[in-house]
Amino acid sequence: MEKSGKGAVLVAGGAGYIGAHTAQALHAQGYLPVVFDNLSSGAREAVRWGPLAHGDVRDAAALADAMAKHDVQAVIHFASLIEVGRSVARPDLFWEHNVGGTATLLQAMRARGVRRLVFSSSAAVYGQGGRGPLESIAEHAAKDPASPYGDTKLACERLIAAHGRAFGLTAVALRYFNAAGADPSGLIGEAHAPETHLIPLAIAAALGDGKALTVFGDDFDTPDGTCLRDYVHVNDLAAAHVAALEAPLAEGAFEAVNIGAGRAYSVFEVIAEAARALGRPVPHAVGARREGDPPSLLADVARARAVLGWTPKVSGLDEIVRDAVRWESAPAYGRPGRKAAMAALSASA
Ligand code: UFG
Repeated sequence: MEKSGKGAVLVAGGAGYIGAHTAQALHAQGYLPVVFDNLSSGAREAVRWGPLAHGDVRDAAALADAMAKHDVQAVIHFASLIEVGRSVARPDLFWEHNVGGTATLLQAMRARGVRRLVFSSSAAVYGQGGRGPLESIAEHAAKDPASPYGDTKLACERLIAAHGRAFGLTAVALRYFNAAGADPSGLIGEAHAPETHLIPLAIAAALGDGKALTVFGDDFDTPDGTCLRDYVHVNDLAAAHVAALEAPLAEGAFEAVNIGAGRAYSVFEVIAEAARALGRPVPHAVGARREGDPPSLLADVARARAVLGWTPKVSGLDEIVRDAVRWESAPAYGRPGRKAAMAALSASA
């Protein structure tokens, strides 16, 4: 028997990076995570703590089947397209998958009387909005997304809030800052294809797997000229989802909550930490700015503490990078060239 004392939770997109870590956290807390995923970017190997229902969030019938079969009591919704750059080139796809998929999921929940939702949102809903470097962002800050990706996350939040007012859905949107790190077990970790995120790319460069890292600009108005970001350990993020599921909220309430570590580091600081953790240099060169990169994103996490009773536990930059290095040195899935790179590295040592 699966351990499922607290009931089944549909984890849409649960074969992805944050979804898999959340499925593990749900299982550890006595829930049965039912991963609903089309495996377009998620990994079958990442589904370890409950059943996989293979399906797409735009498919109402597949959602209805999975919810009925497993007697789903609540939903956590991660399934979406996430590459900011691609959203500029293909806004049509992002609206169809992200907003269309969320609308279909909400209808399926309503049809089945499932009234609790946690939604994967993003700091991308905020614009840069005249903030200075190291000025933290609270939830009431201006919403002015710099990309179609951010637009779709904001549109989903508004649709979810409207379902609360109209139909009594109770929901929390978690606005992630920079998710990073991996579970220390080595069983699950980050494996985007293509990988675009700083920490895995810095580690890959040091391991000789792939190109030297390009630093996207060192002429920002920040202390060392590179962008500042708030990196939060994926296991802290996973815990935030369980807290959001259990938060004592009124029926029909909608809460949007920042999830970050509440500390920001520059690209150069991340590179230095990766070099220290690996005991080898991270080959890098400064290049042009990447379009749409705000100089600084730092979370005000007071509301996460107040509403969810959540605080980050393992989100020191050293802990995040240590766990990322462990995963990237022996990934259980993804990263096709990594084994050969590691072999070449140990042969040359
Ligand atoms: N960076 C580099 N070189 C690289 C990759 C990244 O210098 O090769 C820099 C970026 O310019 C940025 C920082 O490293 O300053 C972090 O970049 P990531 O791509 O790792 O993360 P982002 O801050 O761009 O993106 C994150 C989430 C997105 C979300 C965005 C805004 O991954 O989903 O924050 O909230 F949209």
